Amino acid sequence: MTRLANKVAIITGAGSGQGAAEARLFAAEGARVAVTDVNEEAARAVAQEIGEAAIAVRLDVTNETDWRKAVDATIAAFGKVDVLVNNAGVYKPRPIQQTDRALLDLHYNVNVVGTFLGMQAVREVMRDGGGGAIVNIASGAGTKGFPGMIAYSGSKFMVRGISRCAAIDLAPDKIRVNLVLPGIIDTPMLAENPPEILAAFPTLPPAQRLGTVDEIAEAVLFLASDAASYVMGAELSVCGGLMA
Ligand code: NAI
Repeated sequence: MTRLANKVAIITGAGSGQGAAEARLFAAEGARVAVTDVNEEAARAVAQEIGEAAIAVRLDVTNETDWRKAVDATIAAFGKVDVLVNNAGVYKPRPIQQTDRALLDLHYNVNVVGTFLGMQAVREVMRDGGGGAIVNIASGAGTKGFPGMIAYSGSKFMVRGISRCAAIDLAPDKIRVNLVLPGIIDTPMLAENPPEILAAFPTLPPAQRLGTVDEIAEAVLFLASDAASYVMGAELSVCGGLMA
């Protein structure tokens, strides 16, 4: 399959869950992939499994130096950057009564600042290469309130806001910016839910099951590919009807 033939992609948080699935699918579709994560060992394992179409890079998305190094390493290995998936995220659900400044800052720094720094880090190299595609991962929790998600939900609302603005700003450079909004996806992140949050959470979505990482990867792939050439500033909910 060749839906991403000749493309070079950087994926953040790709050592686990959805990011790892995106890296595998992108490579299977012809892309060369920089598998990046703050957890270097996890990134290396995914890159090794993919083989010569992948490199592993340690990238803490909150760190501008790391971003420069990751973009440089990708260009050194594969010559360009066509696609960025800002997938890395943190989720530590607590109600406002248990949310202090440090917990708010953690979500803001990784989910929002990390996404912003990623777009900043690639935009010039993409522009100089003739354009590109950026896919930012928000959440259904970035569209309405859920129990215990004040810090997470607030950060994902912001991811939507900065992505839509960037889509407008970067359109003249032929860089498309779009969003995927996952629902409840079966990844290690779900283990962050304390029992009281699970008890307060709505039951299964209309699909009557959790989503899979492969179902998210397909949506990200579409927005990253030339099949989405006229899709800009869009939000694709992949949530089994949770947000319907
Ligand atoms: P996951 O926990 O399996 O993967 C998250 C990855 O991000 C991990 O590999 C982790 O090491 C990495 N990461 C954390 N902080 C980082 C940092 N500062 N720099 C670089 N990497 C960092 O979780 P999952 O589910 O695959 O999450 C992927 C994205 O999907 C996140 O943005 C998350 O908020 C979003 N999401 C997840 C949902 C779910 O139900 N699992 C629902 C909606 C959105």
